[in-house]
Amino acid sequence: MSVDFATEGLQPFRAERGYGAILFDPARVRQPAGELFDPAHWGERAEPVGVRGGRGSAWFLHDAGLGEAVLRHYRRGGLPARLVADRYWWHGANRTRSFLEFRLLAELRRLRLPVPAPLAAGYVRSGASYRADIIVERIPGTRSLAERQHDADAALWARVGGTLARFHRAGVDHADLNASNILVDAAGEVWLIDFDRGRRRPPASGWRERNLRRLRRSLLKLRGTRAVADVERDYRQLHAAYSRAWARSL
Ligand SMILES: Nc1ncnc2c1ncn2[C@@H]1O[C@H](COP(=O)(O)OP(=O)(O)O)[C@@H](O)[C@H]1O
Ligand SMILES: [Mg+2]
Repeated sequence: MSVDFATEGLQPFRAERGYGAILFDPARVRQPAGELFDPAHWGERAEPVGVRGGRGSAWFLHDAGLGEAVLRHYRRGGLPARLVADRYWWHGANRTRSFLEFRLLAELRRLRLPVPAPLAAGYVRSGASYRADIIVERIPGTRSLAERQHDADAALWARVGGTLARFHRAGVDHADLNASNILVDAAGEVWLIDFDRGRRRPPASGWRERNLRRLRRSLLKLRGTRAVADVERDYRQLHAAYSRAWARSL
């Protein structure tokens, strides 16, 4: 993993409507400005991610200065929230979705957990609400576990279980642990992404089991042409490895 940063930069800016601020890694982001979060600013260097299981507001950034990165606009899932699809109540800069995720990722990197390094997080406030965005480094050569489940072997299922146990041991409750938010790189290493609303809390069996059940449901939902029995078998392997790793870490 790359060098962890010791400090975080903070840069206020004026936006078309309201004011914003950027939290950023000074070693990676040289010119913190509101336009960083505007896909139009990147032009050809921004490519829509376009995946199943995502909310359709993420772009891969290919930029010489920033490197390979992912820009994500915070947006609620589900239809009922359409009208205020990307607006959240303002409770102060330190409680914006983007600042919370930036700082959680930075903390997990310091714990040597496999998550992408946060590069920049921003918000624009207008009145009682705000919009937010985040840029994280792109993990190269990955496919999601949802895509990989068709050709995953027992060793990969075991690595996923072992990795989840490490996160849980560190008290990391991922609020949306689905098979699209688990990435596998070319070397077979397992990464977790998408920590919106994630948080650290004392490891209790209730939320740990909830995380695992959510993943199981997601594997079934995204199984494509696979037989339910095959998904159940793979999940049992994952869960057994999780339990072994958890017991070892006690
Ligand atoms: N750091 C990353 N490295 C590689 N791909 C990523 C990374 N972050 C996101 N992606 C890709 O972009 C998709 C959407 O990003 P994600 O953070 O999960 O947002 P959301 O689910 O809210 O759309 C992911 O499913 C994954 O395919
Ligand atoms: Mg996601």
